[in-house]
Parts: sequence; structure tokens; C-alpha cells
Amino acid sequence: MASGEGEVMRNKQVIFRDYVTGNPKESDMYVTDSSTIKLKAPQGSVAVLVKNLYLACDPYLRIRMGRIEGSSVFTSFTPGSPLSGFGVAKVLDSGHPEFKEGDLVWGTTGWEEYSLITEPEQLFKIHHTDVPLSYYTGLLGVPGMTAFVGFHEVCSPKRGDSVFVSAAAGAVGQLVGQFAKLMGCYVVGSVGSKEKVDLLKNKLGFDEAFNYKEEHDLDAALKRTYFPKGIDIYFENVGGKMLDAVLLNMRPHGHISVCGMISHYNLNQPQGFSNLTSLIYNRIRMEGFVVFDYFHLYPKFLDMVLPYIREGKIVYLEDIVEGLERGPATLVGLFSGRNVGKQVVLVAPAE
Ligand SMILES: NC(=O)c1ccc[n+]([C@@H]2O[C@H](COP(=O)([O-])OP(=O)(O)OC[C@H]3O[C@@H](n4cnc5c(N)ncnc54)[C@H](OP(=O)(O)O)[C@@H]3O)[C@@H](O)[C@H]2O)c1
Repeated sequence: MASGEGEVMRNKQVIFRDYVTGNPKESDMYVTDSSTIKLKAPQGSVAVLVKNLYLACDPYLRIRMGRIEGSSVFTSFTPGSPLSGFGVAKVLDSGHPEFKEGDLVWGTTGWEEYSLITEPEQLFKIHHTDVPLSYYTGLLGVPGMTAFVGFHEVCSPKRGDSVFVSAAAGAVGQLVGQFAKLMGCYVVGSVGSKEKVDLLKNKLGFDEAFNYKEEHDLDAALKRTYFPKGIDIYFENVGGKMLDAVLLNMRPHGHISVCGMISHYNLNQPQGFSNLTSLIYNRIRMEGFVVFDYFHLYPKFLDMVLPYIREGKIVYLEDIVEGLERGPATLVGLFSGRNVGKQVVLVAPAE
């Protein structure tokens, strides 16, 4: 139960300056420690007061930087207020019966050192601490669930399928490729640098990988080199020219799981596609999904993935930067592919 006065602390925060159009910049945010916070949940509330440990840099945060009108999965950030997003935190005080001081949790929190979470029902308690805590921003958090449901639930994969993954060295893509390999599929990934190509082939077990920035004819590269017999499953993370090229290379009755389209997030005008008739002639099922609709499967996901981690059957690349003040530059780096693996900001060590 929350009680007593509680210490008042300075609270460093990453503040959202104003709505963004085009490419996000570091200066769209600023870091300040001008605020204070009482380290106590208000008496009589169900709020939970947490110390933030890790924050996830996720592409959807760019969408929230825009002015979102009408109904959407997301809401815009409020100019002048801290960003919010997924993170890992330690409970310092709680008015909610299911959380107590010392609990480790993951879920939506603020881009700040300490947060008062007024809807703690959306937090997940962390029960398995024999794996790195930062994994709950990635492999054991939203990106892991996204890879799991987007591949296993949406694509209905079969052993021997030919699978193509874009943004394949990122938080989600690296897992889709590994889940597909564990099922006995042939897997190719596209990424934006030679370093990432090497990681996919030599560390993550992909059969093939290529740098899309060096392929001037994506259709030809897919057709001649990587999928001469066509693609059964495409896990879509980027959109744009890549999706158009993939549409020309799908096998009949193939599946496209539309997870994200990061190449569109900074565009001021929506971009169209040229090759959608392939969906008809090849009887392709292309399905978008939102991971939040599948959170009831989280226990099933943990049952599958924890043994893989413990047995060393899954490798997870993380890119962890230290310090909240590096948050704005690090978040912006997602859109130029600066991250190698899941991009995380370490706010404070767990102790
Ligand atoms: N549907 C859902 O519920 C759901 C949930 C989570 C994430 N997502 C989506 O899943 C996708 C991957 O997310 P993530 O967290 O795994 O991010 P991430 O891959 O860790 O980071 C983004 C990566 O995208 C690539 N990229 C950036 N701009 C690009 C562009 N213009 N064209 C092509 N590639 C570009 C960069 O890698 P390169 O160096 O390879 O270019 C960058 O590292 C995103 O589209 C995200 O919005 C969807």
C-alpha cells in the first residue's frame, strides 16, 4: 500500500518539442532535469511509481511524433511532455494490489528517470530473471511477440517454405528469421549494410542476406539470386520499393505478413504500389496485424521462447546505449539504420 510522504527527486526527462513532419531530428526532443517527482504513489490511488531501467527505441514512436487525427492504434505525443513507450522498470511504490516495491515490470512508461504509472493493468510483471532484463524491451517484449504472432499466427508457415524478411537485423526481423530457421525454412534477409549482412549469415543462421542499398534492381536480385523458385512467405517491415519487388516474386498461395512499413513513416505524402495485381493472379494472402490484439498469447510465447534462449537456440542482438540524455539521437538513428539489433537506452542499472 502507498503510504507516507516519499522522497522528492529531480527527474530527468526527454521532452517532445513539437509535431514532426519528414525525417525526425534529435532537436525534435530535448532533455531536461527541471522537474521533480515524489517517489510515492498517491494515497488511495492504484498508481505505481517506478524507476525506469531500460527504454525501447521503437519505430512506432515516430508515428506518435506526428499529428494523428481520427481513430488510430496510436495517439500523438503531447508537445512539452515526456515521450512514452515500452520499457523495463523497478517498482518503488504501489497502490495496486498486484504490484509491490521491488517488483520488476515491463510495459508502457515515460522517457524519464521515474514515472508514475496510473494504469498499471497494462504492465507485465517479470518472473524470469535468469535472462538479461533488457530482453523485455525486445526478445521477451513487444518485438518478440510481434515476430511470433506475425510469423506463426499470420503466415501459417510450413517446413521447407522459402521465407524473406526485410529489416532483418532489427528487433523483430532477426527473430522472424530465427523462428523460420527453427521450423526448417529457407530464409533470406535484407538489411542496410555489409556488417548486418555478415551478422545475419554468420551469427543468426540466415541462409542468405543482402544489402538492399547496393541492389539497384531488387526484382532481379530476388528472382535470380535468392528466390529462383519464388517466395512462400514475406515478412514485411519496410514497404516501398521492396514490397513492389516482392510482389513480383511471390509463389502462388503465398503469404505476406504486413508488420510495418518503416520507409513510409517519414513521408509527407502516402506512397502507392505498382504490383498489387500479383495478389490476384497468385492467390496471395496479404494480412496486416497489430501485436496488441495478440497479447493473450504472451504466456504461450514465453513457453516457446524461454527454452530456446536457455538452450542457446536463439541469439538476440541488442544495441544498448547508456544514458537518457542519449535517447533523442538514439531514437532518430533507427531511421538511418544506425542500430544493429534491438535499440535500447539504459536509463539506470538494475543494481
Ligand atoms: N504490427 C505491429 O504490431 C508491429 C509491432 C512492432 C514493430 N512493428 C514494425 O516492425 C518493423 C520493424 O521494427 P523493429 O522494432 O524491428 O525496428 P528495427 O528493425 O530494430 O529498426 C528499424 C530498421 O529499419 C531499417 N530502416 C530504416 N529506414 C528504412 C527505410 N527507409 N527503408 C528500409 N529499411 C529501413 C533500418 O535497418 P537497415 O540498416 O536494415 O536499413 C533500421 O535499423 C517496423 O516497421 C515497425 O513499425 C510492427
